[in-house]
Amino acid sequence: MLNDKILSGKHILIGVCGGIAAYKIPDLISKLVKLGAEVKVVMTHAATEFVTPLTFQSMSHNPVAVDMFSEPVAWEIRHISLAQWTDTLLVAPATANMIGKLANGIADDMLSTVAMATRSQVLVAPAMNTAMYENAATQANIKTLKERGIKIIEPAEGRLACGDSGKGKLADIDVLLNSLIYEVAFEKDLSGKKVLVTAGATVESVDPVRFLTNHSSGKMGIEIARAAQLRGADVTLVCGNISVETPMGVNVIKVKSAQDMFDACVSHQKEADVIIKAAAVADFKPKDVADNKIKKEGGFEGVIRLEQNPDILKYLGEHKPAGQILVGFCMETQDLIENAKKKLDKKNLDMIVANSLTEPNAGFKSDTNTVTILDKTGKIEALDNMSKFCVAQELLDRVVKCL
Ligand code: PMT
Repeated sequence: MLNDKILSGKHILIGVCGGIAAYKIPDLISKLVKLGAEVKVVMTHAATEFVTPLTFQSMSHNPVAVDMFSEPVAWEIRHISLAQWTDTLLVAPATANMIGKLANGIADDMLSTVAMATRSQVLVAPAMNTAMYENAATQANIKTLKERGIKIIEPAEGRLACGDSGKGKLADIDVLLNSLIYEVAFEKDLSGKKVLVTAGATVESVDPVRFLTNHSSGKMGIEIARAAQLRGADVTLVCGNISVETPMGVNVIKVKSAQDMFDACVSHQKEADVIIKAAAVADFKPKDVADNKIKKEGGFEGVIRLEQNPDILKYLGEHKPAGQILVGFCMETQDLIENAKKKLDKKNLDMIVANSLTEPNAGFKSDTNTVTILDKTGKIEALDNMSKFCVAQELLDRVVKCL
């Protein structure tokens, strides 16, 4: 999960309309503020019937705008200054009425006026009764907004406050958060690029009950996938066993064994502009997998015979299409840099990220990592300990330069 101040210096304006889902917006604001954003809120009069302006003022640490003609705090034409101040405007929950106003150029309250006056990206998250959402007028208005470049964050399906079930629930707060982060946090320098990332631990069955695996949580690979998606890439994430959620907007392929991971990687290899293999792959698997649970009484000698798994990264290096960037990881307990150099050469990589099991707050499971990035030109860069998301950004900065 993201903890870094990735929205530091970003201005986000939230327009709240009069719908029951307004009660969810303070939570969104809290998350935005934690990520470093400066947040301001505009409410319609109807919205103040559901949540008080004081709640939004307290969460955002900024005055809330409701009335077009109230006394301003300083001299300013407030709807214009807010419209110019914001990097992006999110209207959530957006009622059928507000969507109608935005689509038809009606500016008769603070929010619709700010929306008309802003040149920033506008996101609209509808929330209403299913019949109202499906009404031809609402659908036509949404179509108009899309055609004008306004991004619609689709409502979810489920049980609505009115008791009906169907489409019309405000999208999940994390979906709204991710949409805002995507909009403002990073330059889209990987736009148009396909990035294949692997994460997590492979799992090799011994019998239907037992298996061999390793300590990988998937955090490192998942942060790479998240960072690449936020930089505009079309990301496919092949993941083994993981203990964290996969990021939104990423195409996830779940696999179990090293052979499954091999098959998934090979089938996506040709189309990828960049492949980053952060997964911890088992080098060995049991030679024979028992069909039934191995019983201690059944003459089991205490020996599991192993055979080698395919080396996925080596195969990808040997069959690398021209222009593709191939990045490996290297986890060692000794001679980290020497071993990383050998793997970089042997597997025909463009870069390798070396991390050690002996460093504190690094490697398996932790939220931070300490890595050294080596590239095929002989450059070796040791980075400080930082969050895995920041490691991912450092790595992608170097990948972008190679592209
Ligand atoms: O998942 P986390 O808990 O966040 O931990 C992150 C991590 C420590 C797993 C990650 O940062 C990492 O180091 N991943 C690679 C671990 C590993 O398998 O290292 P290795 O030195 O054994 O393998 C070298 C490279 O070859 C790796 O890119 C690996 O994915 C690849 N490999 C290895 C064996 C194999 N049969 N096929 C492979 O493709």
